[in-house]
Amino acid sequence: MANKTREEWKVYKNVFDNATLLNLHKLSSQGHFDELKSPVAMGKEANVFTAVKKTKKIIVKIYRVENCNFRRMYSYIFPDPRFAGLKMRRRLVIFSWVKREYRNLLKAREVIRVPTPIAVKDNVLLMEFIGREEPALLLKDSPPKNPKKFSKKTLDNVKKLYKAGLVHADLSEFNILNFEEEPVFIDFSQATTVEHPNAQEFLRRDIRNLVKCFNKQGLNLDEKDVYERLIKE
Ligand SMILES: Nc1ncnc2c1ncn2[C@@H]1O[C@H](COP(=O)(O)OP(=O)(O)OP(=O)(O)O)[C@@H](O)[C@H]1O
Ligand SMILES: [Mg+2]
Repeated sequence: MANKTREEWKVYKNVFDNATLLNLHKLSSQGHFDELKSPVAMGKEANVFTAVKKTKKIIVKIYRVENCNFRRMYSYIFPDPRFAGLKMRRRLVIFSWVKREYRNLLKAREVIRVPTPIAVKDNVLLMEFIGREEPALLLKDSPPKNPKKFSKKTLDNVKKLYKAGLVHADLSEFNILNFEEEPVFIDFSQATTVEHPNAQEFLRRDIRNLVKCFNKQGLNLDEKDVYERLIKE
């Protein structure tokens, strides 16, 4: 199937603003995908779609610029040395936020299983599709067959990320896919480097959410214990 022309993208004109349409058209004409397929999730700030390139699926995450809380985003980005000197202007902050998600995914990918990022253009991020026919389910909707094994892999991932200098900072059963009993972490936009002044607090919160989730599944993990073991060499 050929890429859509700019005119053809107009079928989406009631769904996306013009700038977003242009970004989608650009990414598609660069050969990243042929067309959008189905919506996967409509979040507070971003919509997630599948798209296809021939028969291969990818994920398209589109931030709705008007709905984004850019002041909250700024508070996360501000201490990030990778974005030093960023001005607090809506579009600038949001586009940096999306770029940061792309870079965080690239970095995380070196040590754990995450969707490989493919490209980014302003408010649009393309990444690997995790799933088979359908997208993999979130951990909250797909309890692991063996919670002990799954929790170990999950906490191992948190440790590997931390050792690589990253804290996810929004980790819970809502941002982990259970893909054939392997945890795949997603949604890395708010992930921070360990130099961030609140990194330890974010790490503790991530661990608290995970411990809560796994204890609901019958385990008996202790938050403090897990944290201390995790930050130890
Ligand atoms: N790479 C992927 N493969 C399969 N499904 C995905 C992928 N990325 C996201 N999803 C699905 O889309 C949903 C929303 O994605 P994500 O968590 O990144 O966005 P969000 O929570 O809306 O974003 P934000 O928290 O930044 O507003 C996920 O819960 C998951 O079901
Ligand atoms: Mg999410």
